[in-house]
Amino acid sequence: MLQLESVTTGYGRVSVVFDVCLTVPDGKLVAVLGNNGAGKTTLLRAVMGLLPVRTGSVVFDGADITKLSTNKRVRRGIAYVPQGQQSFGQLTARENLVLIAERHGQAGARRMSEALDLFPALGGLLTRRAGLLSGGQRQQLAIARALITGPKLMVLDEPTEGIQPNVVAEIQAAISTMMSGAGISVLMVEQHVGYALEMADSFAVLASGRVMSTGAGGAAAVSQAREAMAL
Ligand SMILES: Nc1ncnc2c1ncn2[C@@H]1O[C@H](COP(=O)(O)OP(=O)(O)O)[C@@H](O)[C@H]1O
Ligand SMILES: [Mg+2]
Repeated sequence: MLQLESVTTGYGRVSVVFDVCLTVPDGKLVAVLGNNGAGKTTLLRAVMGLLPVRTGSVVFDGADITKLSTNKRVRRGIAYVPQGQQSFGQLTARENLVLIAERHGQAGARRMSEALDLFPALGGLLTRRAGLLSGGQRQQLAIARALITGPKLMVLDEPTEGIQPNVVAEIQAAISTMMSGAGISVLMVEQHVGYALEMADSFAVLASGRVMSTGAGGAAAVSQAREAMAL
């Protein structure tokens, strides 16, 4: 579904991610782990075309998208949920969803109702301003918005950051459901190693912008991932 081939990217003239190779197979979840400042968000921004890929390539669904604009990537089926649960704070939860749904006609309306099925808690909060929602509710809203675009691949940056454990479980369940139900593949950045590996089919640990360790997901991988993060 997504293939990163030796991707180097960064800010201005400064590279902060070096030669990253990573594959997200169709229908699978790949976790990118690593400490603060390791380059995880930078890598995702390059996947989305928000930062230029200096060397290497990004292949999505069989096509080289390295030079495509962010909008075109979204239209091809990559949805991005940035770190920090961004929504339009002054708009209600419903307005935040409708804003996206309107651009997608009937499919948008259908996917909006599917997204609300996935996050029942949002149903009771639709008239509330997004800025007044809790962190967990805002994260659910952000994922719901992304789902309305009808993605094949969902790119999630620390979806559980700063969120209460019971809401983390809800978000985890929703990710599993969207994968099994709609066949969506997931590239997810996480700092919570145990939680991420529980869900991941495979993982990569980034440190100082380089892939330090890779392997299959599952509880057995936790110590391997933690050791790589400690280096
Ligand atoms: N806008 C920016 N301009 C310059 N350097 C940045 C910018 N954003 C992040 N960085 C640097 O890039 C490195 C990786 O950051 P980031 O990708 O946000 O890490 P992570 O998401 O793993 O915590 C850090 O050293 C950070 O200081
Ligand atoms: Mg980050």
